[in-house]
Amino acid sequence: MQITVKRAEQLKPHPPEDKLGFGINFTDHMLNLDYDTASGWHSPRIEPYAPIVMDPSTMVLHYGQAVFEGLKAYRTQGGEIQLFRARDNIARLNRSCRALCIPELDPDFLMTSLKELLRLEQAWVPGAPQTSLYIRPTVIATDNFLGVRASDTYRYFVILSPVGAYYAEGFNPIKIWVTRRHVRAVRGGLGEAKTPANYAASLYAGEDAHKHGYTQVLWLDGVEQKYVEEVGSMNIFFVIDDEILTPALNGSILPGITRDSVLQLARHWGLKAAERDITIDEVMQAHSDGKLQEVFGSGTAAVISPVGELKYDDQQITIGQGRVGPVAQRLFDAITAIQYGKGDDPLGWVEKIN
Ligand code: COI
Repeated sequence: MQITVKRAEQLKPHPPEDKLGFGINFTDHMLNLDYDTASGWHSPRIEPYAPIVMDPSTMVLHYGQAVFEGLKAYRTQGGEIQLFRARDNIARLNRSCRALCIPELDPDFLMTSLKELLRLEQAWVPGAPQTSLYIRPTVIATDNFLGVRASDTYRYFVILSPVGAYYAEGFNPIKIWVTRRHVRAVRGGLGEAKTPANYAASLYAGEDAHKHGYTQVLWLDGVEQKYVEEVGSMNIFFVIDDEILTPALNGSILPGITRDSVLQLARHWGLKAAERDITIDEVMQAHSDGKLQEVFGSGTAAVISPVGELKYDDQQITIGQGRVGPVAQRLFDAITAIQYGKGDDPLGWVEKIN
């Protein structure tokens, strides 16, 4: 498929790199692609970043048939632009599409078109430490119809946003609230798909957590509310008795690419790392026994995010004296070194855009 390019007549000023925040500013161009049953995915085009004008009956607005991804482009010290495990994000986008009855997209074409968009927008990839260009590929259902069924037409689009740290805390420990009052997802539902419904389901508890001074919610399983699942904006890891543990993927947890990178790197270094069911009681008990050494989250937006405090019912525990632990620090240093081209890439995760 030939990608048409229409350049913006006026380019936007770039925000200062020390004040990027997360997901606030957007670049000059976006990528669009449409689907209908007669033509399949067609008409790829890079166009000026612009609002999507929709009929009020557009299906995505009513039934949430949509999926998205989050990945980043990084500027190396030499000024080159590179992607981290982008093909894994594309594979996950297609898995999410399957879960939401959305027609899959050709992975090679998604990669080619993303690189073309990034080459056009490369001046937007910031160079200051810990900044990057966040990439948000999205698919939405576009039929104008109010019956409940899968849409026959879709729009795929990619927007780009220069970003700094996701959490205001940066790489400092955050405080997490473990909730039993709400659930994010249940097995057999949409929990492992990257779809807006999971984020909508997290808002009420998230607001509650904020009111009590906590940054994020740690979700328990939706059936027994006994097993730890994930944080919504990231996966969760515990270091207990020198072993790195994360909940096994069970259908209701997002299969994070940074999560997988943590597991692969830890094993590459010869550390003990396991995926298994972990109860919240086991975590609290490990803390009482003095064996809970670290807790941290992993995600594209969050990278590695240390957790300094957990609150569960009336128990409030401080982890590692509220400081960044050695495993989280080592992982953060290694993953960011790979992403920014400052260190070895032993597992072949980066790809340049040129
Ligand atoms: C990501 O880590 O890319 C996410 O999508 C998490 C959040 C910003 C929605």
